[in-house]
Amino acid sequence: MKKTWWMSAVFILIGASLVGAATQNKLPSNYWDFPQATKDGIRSHEGLDLENNMRPEACAQCHQEQFNAWRDSRHAHAYSAGLVGQFPGMGHGEGNACLVCHAPLAEQLYRDAGDMQATLSTLLQHPEGFSRNADLDSTKAQLPLRHAGVTCAVCHVRQGRRFGPPRRGSALVGALNGAAHDGFIASKDFEQSQLCASCHQFPQSYAINGKPLENTVFEWKQSRFARQGIQCQNCHMPDRKHAFKGIHDVDMVRSGLQFELKKISTGAALTITSVHIGHAFPSYVTPKVLVKAEALDGQGEIIQHWQWLIVREVGYDEGWKEIQDTRLMPSESRVFEARGLHEEVSAVRFYVDVIPDAFYKGVYQSLLTGGLKGNAKALIQRALSDANDNDYRLYNETFTLE
Ligand code: HEC
Ligand code: HEC
Ligand code: HEC
Ligand code: HEC
Ligand code: HEC
Repeated sequence: MKKTWWMSAVFILIGASLVGAATQNKLPSNYWDFPQATKDGIRSHEGLDLENNMRPEACAQCHQEQFNAWRDSRHAHAYSAGLVGQFPGMGHGEGNACLVCHAPLAEQLYRDAGDMQATLSTLLQHPEGFSRNADLDSTKAQLPLRHAGVTCAVCHVRQGRRFGPPRRGSALVGALNGAAHDGFIASKDFEQSQLCASCHQFPQSYAINGKPLENTVFEWKQSRFARQGIQCQNCHMPDRKHAFKGIHDVDMVRSGLQFELKKISTGAALTITSVHIGHAFPSYVTPKVLVKAEALDGQGEIIQHWQWLIVREVGYDEGWKEIQDTRLMPSESRVFEARGLHEEVSAVRFYVDVIPDAFYKGVYQSLLTGGLKGNAKALIQRALSDANDNDYRLYNETFTLE
């Protein structure tokens, strides 16, 4: 690019920031190494306690908007009953291996087995690991940091420094001054899908039938969205909002799909097209989507029915195996046909039901029949009931035949 005189002027004005910029546009290469330390040599402005505090309630005092969105996200609830209820019987090292994605900071890990044991009753007492109204004096704001799950500091703090995207409307990167916590380090990596990869993409070596169990970033790379530069953040953090909505949110799922119901020669058909989902629908092996059709007679009685599954199903039989993969890939359309209708049929009804935690429900049920006891049993029962509450009907339309 040819430099113009005004560009040189801008370079002189912001030169100080740009010195850091050249080397610090990229996040440090060990940013997602495990465990991630927030603390050695923490930097605060004038050593303020508030700025030394890594709890989300502390960040909320100055970043309320992000906190208010994050507190309802799955990230805020990643240190869950379903996770922790599985730990009894595991060593604390194995528990920590799960925290790699659910609560990965060095400050969040278990130091010993006692630490892990104690967490069971704490979690039963405090299903939510933080104070919703960001009251720093509440008991919840004193819980061990792991209870806050994928908390603010997991994505934003390393070695006592804050990292974030460039300021809105600015291209400045590197170490920037700011009115609190000794400023922050701005990196464009925050605006890239790769930022999500350490937890949302397994390595290829874990593949089952050629595809890792979590393959979201790879699926995205194959899609038109990657070619158009539409990152995970564009859909899951629009306008930088921290709600991270996904398959548990009916409006989010509707926003990604198009439905078309029409008559065909011997019946009715529903076409579902993935129009705005940057990976497979659904991406993981854990949800299940059921498409159902029912043919009704004049009295509204069901006289014929059909069912299809949209799922990637895996099972364990001397090693993991893929049973079926019927997910919708980005831009893919699929037609579900209710054909060969009986003469008395006067209407066809189509439903789409989503079971976001189908796989985990099976895990919880088998743990419970396996004779789980005490706190672990209570946690898994809670996880199962929460999972049941998450089921919803995505679509319901009736097609009347003339
Ligand atoms: C005392 C108030 C205060 C507290 C507490 C605080 N921050 Fe900040 N934060 C600020 C200010 C002021 C800025 C600078 C904004 C600017 O200059 O654009 C900032 C900037 C940031 C940025 C960069 C924003 C961007 O545009 O990229 C991030 C990320 C951030 N803070 C995260 C955190 C996290 C995480 C915590 C809690 C662990 C926290 N902050 C606690 C006041 C605070
Ligand atoms: C590579 C990152 C990663 C690791 C490691 C990981 N998880 Fe998860 N986990 C996820 C993601 C992402 C989800 C949400 C998507 C899904 O349901 O698959 C999730 C969801 C869950 C859920 C359902 C939601 C909830 O919190 O109730 C449970 C239970 C769970 N994981 C347990 C575990 C256990 C137990 C381990 C260790 C054996 C573990 N996870 C290790 C990334 C991870
Ligand atoms: C899973 C990772 C993740 C978590 C958890 C997270 N953030 Fe962020 N945050 C991001 C990303 C990514 C961006 C930039 C998004 C973009 O540019 O589209 C961002 C942007 C920001 C910004 C700049 C916002 C703006 O409008 O310019 C602030 C401030 C911030 N985060 C604070 C927080 C606070 C406070 C929390 C906890 C309540 C938090 N973040 C939790 C990933 C995260
Ligand atoms: C074009 C918009 C779009 C892009 C880009 C996108 N997503 Fe999604 N994502 C969605 C929609 C809509 C849903 C809800 C439907 C579904 O579950 O597939 C979703 C669901 C999810 C889920 C829920 C779990 C599941 O099984 O579906 C996760 C996790 C997720 N996205 C992570 C990511 C990550 C990580 C990236 C970047 C690699 C990304 N998404 C890119 C739109 C998008
Ligand atoms: C430190 C690990 C980590 C990072 C980094 C991370 N996530 Fe997550 N994410 C998780 C875990 C764990 C869950 C599941 C929480 C649960 O339900 O227990 C999750 C859940 C989600 C969901 C909710 C899916 C649903 O089931 O509805 C979305 C959407 C999502 N993440 C998007 C993102 C995006 C976008 C990024 C990058 C900006 C990102 N995540 C970065 C660990 C992470």
